[in-house]
Amino acid sequence: MPENITVNEFKLLRDLIEKWCGIALGNEKAYLIETRLMGLMAQTGCEDYGSFYRLLAKDQDWQLRDKIVDAMTTNETLWFRDAHPFTILRERLLPPLGAELLAGNRFRIRIWSGASSTGQEAYSIAMAIHECCRATPGLRPAQFEILATDISPSALFLAKAGRYDESSLNRGLGNERRARFFHPEGNSWVVNDEVKQLVTFRKFNLQDSLEPLGHFDIVFMRYVTIYFSDPLKRQIYSAIAKLVGPDGHLIISAVESLRGISEDFVQLNHAGGSYYRCLSS
Ligand SMILES: C[S@@+](CC[C@H](N)C(=O)[O-])C[C@H]1O[C@@H](n2cnc3c(N)ncnc32)[C@H](O)[C@@H]1O
Repeated sequence: MPENITVNEFKLLRDLIEKWCGIALGNEKAYLIETRLMGLMAQTGCEDYGSFYRLLAKDQDWQLRDKIVDAMTTNETLWFRDAHPFTILRERLLPPLGAELLAGNRFRIRIWSGASSTGQEAYSIAMAIHECCRATPGLRPAQFEILATDISPSALFLAKAGRYDESSLNRGLGNERRARFFHPEGNSWVVNDEVKQLVTFRKFNLQDSLEPLGHFDIVFMRYVTIYFSDPLKRQIYSAIAKLVGPDGHLIISAVESLRGISEDFVQLNHAGGSYYRCLSS
C-alpha cells in the first residue's frame, strides 16, 4: 500500500496535472490526487508518489496520460442541466438565428459544447433544436451543427455511443423527450439518429488554441472553468470572444463568472438565468 503523499510529491503531481489538462488543485486538494490516482499508481508498480511522478514525467505513455486525465476530470452532467440555458436557447437565441436561415442570409448555424462530458449537454442542445424546428415551418435541423469537445477519452467514448442506462436517463429527461428522441436497446436507451446526426464529438484540450475550431454562433462553456486558474479562464474567454465575434453568444453556469475575467461580453437575463452577448471590439 503506498504511503501518504508528501507535500513535495503533491506539488510535482499537481503541476503536471495542470500542465496536461489545466485543472488547478489548491493545497487542500492533496486528497484528490491520493484518492483518484492511487489505483493507477498501484497498476504501474510504483510504490510511492515520487516514483509515480518520475514515471509520468519522463514517459511518453499517452495511454497512461489519458488515464490520469480521465481520473482527474469530473464528468458530472445531466440532461437539460439547470433548465434555463435551454429555455434561453429556445426562446432567445434560436429564433433570430432561425429567421436568418429562413431569409437565406445564413446557411448554417454552429454551436459549441466546450466541455461536453458524456454528451448530455450536446444532445440536449440537439433536442432543443429539433423542438424549435418543429415549431418553425421551413426550418430544418440539418441547418444546425453542434461541435462537442472534451479532454476525457472515456467521457467522449460514452458520448459518441449515445447509450445511457435508466438512472442517467432519469437525470433531467422527461418521459415525452425520452419517447421522442430515444429508443430502447437491451437495458439501455440510445439516442435516435436524428439527434446524433447534429453532433460531432472530438477530443480537445481547452488549453490549446481555439482558432482551428472555426466560427460559432453560440458557445456553451459550463461547469469547466471552475477547475482552471484565472489566467487560463482569461485566455479561454478571450479566445471565445474571437470565435463568436460581435453579437455571438456565450452560456456559462451559475457557479462561473466573467467578473474580473473578461470584458468582452455583456450579461443578459431571461427565464431566471443569464447568458452573454459578445461586444464589438
Ligand atoms: C463537470 S463536466 C461539465 C459537463 C457539461 N458542460 C455540463 O455542464 O453538464 C466538466 C468536463 O470538463 C472536461 N474538462 C476538464 N478539463 C478540460 C480541458 N482542459 N479541456 C477540455 N475539457 C476539459 C472534463 O473532462 C469534464 O467532462
